[in-house]
Amino acid sequence: MINQERLWNRLEELSEFGKQASGGITRFSFTEEEKKAKALVASYMEEAGMTVREDAVGNLIGRKEGQRKDAPAVLIGSHIDTVPDGGRFDGALGVIAGIEVAQTLHEQQIQHDHPIEVYAFTDEEGSRFGFGMVGSRGLAGILTSEELQHRDANGVSIAEAMKEAGFDPEQYKDAAKEPATVKGYVELHIEQGRVLEQRGLAAGIVSGIAGPHWMKWTIAGEAGHAGATPMAIRKDPLMAAAEMMQFIEAEAKKYPNAVTTIGQISVKPGGVNVIPAEVEFTLDLRDIDEKTRDQVEASITAHAQEVSRKRAVELRLETMQRVEPVPCSESIQNVIQKAFNKVDVEPFQLPSGAGHDGMQFKDYCPIGMIFIRSKDGISHNPAEWSSIEDCGKGTEILYETVLALAIE
Ligand code: GLV
Ligand code: MN
Ligand code: MN
Repeated sequence: MINQERLWNRLEELSEFGKQASGGITRFSFTEEEKKAKALVASYMEEAGMTVREDAVGNLIGRKEGQRKDAPAVLIGSHIDTVPDGGRFDGALGVIAGIEVAQTLHEQQIQHDHPIEVYAFTDEEGSRFGFGMVGSRGLAGILTSEELQHRDANGVSIAEAMKEAGFDPEQYKDAAKEPATVKGYVELHIEQGRVLEQRGLAAGIVSGIAGPHWMKWTIAGEAGHAGATPMAIRKDPLMAAAEMMQFIEAEAKKYPNAVTTIGQISVKPGGVNVIPAEVEFTLDLRDIDEKTRDQVEASITAHAQEVSRKRAVELRLETMQRVEPVPCSESIQNVIQKAFNKVDVEPFQLPSGAGHDGMQFKDYCPIGMIFIRSKDGISHNPAEWSSIEDCGKGTEILYETVLALAIE
């Protein structure tokens, strides 16, 4: 039913915005690249026969009416922002596939009762401001004005970037959509792991999404002369950090699903011959089970405090963003399972290690997710890849799922 080539060509066209020499894509929210990418996606939505608008936080929305105008809408979505030097499928696939579903229904003149809305959410990745899922939080009515104060590497806040891009940050609450007008949310995404590939499956049903807890660790010591300060009297924050990092990795390895990542680090003042005065690093800690995540957090922070005492450095811990792990709706998983049977793919269930916009809808609407196979499990990397056939298969499953939800 769906047009696999059109889907593939659109993914290719979209990947040109923010393209890096590496072949990867850097497309942050409220930038020129993102603006151009949104204009292209808006043109696809129009071709699909949808009415297109942007809401107060920059979510791009295409709407296709159903037979019952005031029935709650079936939402499909994902994001078109990327991590630094990311791939072309993470996020983009879910948006382009959502449009493909709407366009197929439009072209085949298939009737459905519920309206369908396709979302390209603002800043899912959190790569620019260290705070993600801004658009989905806005839609669910849980975004706050304090959150818009998160700043990028140049000191520009989300609110300031919004203003620069032509939005009024004071109006962010207008993006909230009444929950009664939403039937549910479905997202197609690449797995970003190896499970489906190892099982030889094109697609899977997501059972739940692991919760990321993003923290900033700051360790203050004492700057000193690299040549003249004896080892025994140093208060070196980087050596303290190294000890903490080793423990952070070892602790996560004790649990089957816990993962810890240190993705950013800065050392001040940063001289070859200067004992650092201060070290700052980020920690991304996740587990599908919140109790386990809390347990890992408790043991690594207790260890870090012990190291700080021993090395006479000062430790400061801050939470940047903390999202609870979220189970997917049983009833939407059942609808997805029927869609798998219809397109003849074994309905296999798996959890998501990566975070997704649907996590913000925990208390807002039922959510469901479909994964397709990732080549070698690689993601957040220019080499991220899924085949045209798997993208097509996933979109067919999305189509059957959305249609079932929209005609019930
Ligand atoms: C988003 O890709 C995340 O899981 O960090
Ligand atoms: Mn991502
Ligand atoms: Mn994503």
